[in-house]
Amino acid sequence: MARLVIVSNRVAVPAEGSGAVAAGGLAVAVKEAFTAYEGLWFGWSGNIVDQPSDEPTIIDRDRIQYALVDLSPQDHREYYSGFANRALWPIMHYRLGLGAFSRSDYAGYSRVNRFFAQTLAGLIEPDDIIWVHDYHLLPLASELRGLGIANPIGYFHHIPWPAADVFNSLPASGDLLRAIADYDLIGLQTEPDVQNLTRNLCDTLRAIPLGAGSLMVDGRRTRIRSFPIGIDVAGFKDAAEKAASDRTVRETIAGLRTRKLIIGVDRLDYSKGVPERMEAVDRFLASNPDQRGNVVYLQIAPKSRSDVPEYEQLAREVNETVGEINGNTGDPTWTPIQYVTKAYARPVLAGLYRAARVGLVTPMRDGMNLVAKEYVVAQSGDDPGVLILSKFAGAAQQLPEAILVNPYDRFEVAEAIRTALYMPRAERLARWKPMVERMTREDVDWWARNFLSELENFRTVEREPPTA
Ligand code: F6P
Repeated sequence: MARLVIVSNRVAVPAEGSGAVAAGGLAVAVKEAFTAYEGLWFGWSGNIVDQPSDEPTIIDRDRIQYALVDLSPQDHREYYSGFANRALWPIMHYRLGLGAFSRSDYAGYSRVNRFFAQTLAGLIEPDDIIWVHDYHLLPLASELRGLGIANPIGYFHHIPWPAADVFNSLPASGDLLRAIADYDLIGLQTEPDVQNLTRNLCDTLRAIPLGAGSLMVDGRRTRIRSFPIGIDVAGFKDAAEKAASDRTVRETIAGLRTRKLIIGVDRLDYSKGVPERMEAVDRFLASNPDQRGNVVYLQIAPKSRSDVPEYEQLAREVNETVGEINGNTGDPTWTPIQYVTKAYARPVLAGLYRAARVGLVTPMRDGMNLVAKEYVVAQSGDDPGVLILSKFAGAAQQLPEAILVNPYDRFEVAEAIRTALYMPRAERLARWKPMVERMTREDVDWWARNFLSELENFRTVEREPPTA
């Protein structure tokens, strides 16, 4: 059996003997990929040390070997906080105004990718297939090829791929486009993402389309396809059904009394549209005074990337917005917005989703958005809640029965909240059923199997002896 080598910036090593994996889409998804393979998971240890070693720390746990490297403070600042999260992240999310490009950050990003490749190359065996994840590691295949690694290498991009004009505004865009073509298979979340990258490679690098998503770029063949990431439907459903006994869930439900719960759960990131969503809730309360005191909006938003200035600024803005709305609209018996920055375990979230009549998922732009999928799966089949979903989330392509909204239009979002709260049970059921069925078919296992069989297939095709 081929060995699977996964590479990602963050690696979720389960605590010894627990078998559990850290929360988060990437971690759960990657764990799923290992069910069919023996494997190695390579990436950053999460530690920042003055003198990182060239030798990775190896941990063996539950059929998976973890190989972890540390970063220096300069690496972390330039590669992770700098180029990955202040240049690539805003550009990929169409936020040109927030992009901060610096040559030294780009040099740090390239240096860390080279360091990852050099450290990883010594661990690669001839039959391995290599699967690289996310925007931190765009040039990794190119670095590995430079070291003579000829194994199949696939890449999955978890976030959006923007239109060519947006991507090309990044000063390093040409280098990155050339580098990404060194992957044998490039997976994106949606068809629009595939079109954006394909068009850009054809226009900028004169790539030649070969049909069925294959392209010839600078004499090398690559393939670009969409593989929408799914969730562990069976596990999440089970957690939602059992969550009623959890203390936080029980007490939240008891505290609601007869009020209806509207829920939002996001990493505190400007792409998620948290302040814009709060303003939409405020608008809803202003235009529906009869609903004051009858609804509570719970926003859970764990802090993220706090050493990046744009995230610090966002945290301040959200605090102000919550204070202003609660101060202006609430009263001693009712606080309209409950805002929590603590991270909750997935089973607790599953229970809270199930208790919420409305799931408010309104990112300004999102590769997929797994919260939308989790909200749908957590609902009870007797009395499901309503999902309000941004049309700029990748998940909207698979969940068209949600109420789709433009997150930039707070009047439209406010109207959608009203529609959701008044929606009769028959309509809620009619919308929910096809969504949950699709999520069950297109779950995380389906996603990983599709990607890996396509990557394996590449190897079979490439290695076939030439016919006489
Ligand atoms: O969705 C993109 C992503 O980088 C995921 O890979 C990751 O789980 C999440 O954002 C959190 O980001 P960070 O690793 O920067 O905390």
